Amino acid sequence: MASVLVLNGPNLNLLGTRKPEVYGSTSLADVEEMCRQEAGKLGLDVDFRQSNHEGQLIDWIHECGRAMKAGDCIGAVYNPGAHTHTSVALHDAIEGAEVTVIELHISNVHAREEFRHHSFISPVARGIVVGFGVLGYPLAIQGLHQLTRTA
Ligand code: DQA
Repeated sequence: MASVLVLNGPNLNLLGTRKPEVYGSTSLADVEEMCRQEAGKLGLDVDFRQSNHEGQLIDWIHECGRAMKAGDCIGAVYNPGAHTHTSVALHDAIEGAEVTVIELHISNVHAREEFRHHSFISPVARGIVVGFGVLGYPLAIQGLHQLTRTA
């Protein structure tokens, strides 16, 4: 069974308790369960990961690129957290490993501080899901499935 990588960057381990007025009160473990439910309906496995470390995330993106080439993975749903606005290295990793990425943000970053308006990830993302709360995760899995099925 092919899998989808659901990748979460820095501070997303705090989901549920961190600024609930912005990110909601659902925990990351609950989000993982939502992803498993959605992926299951589509006949996909979920590889759900979170790290606060840029190098670790880069290594996982490279791994995803290899898995995609082997036909084991359809791509990644990726919430890069604050790395969105800072990381050329993650941009280069996605481009270099040729990973199909759906960039995801729980909050509507464009309605927030100006420093959240620019994304280093968007130019190398296949699609972007922004501002749907944690519901964005199943939506992004569905979208990635559709895109890669008809590609
Ligand atoms: C976020 C938005 C980012 O600006 C922020 O740094 C996060 C979470 C979101 O999901 O809305 O950590 O990616």
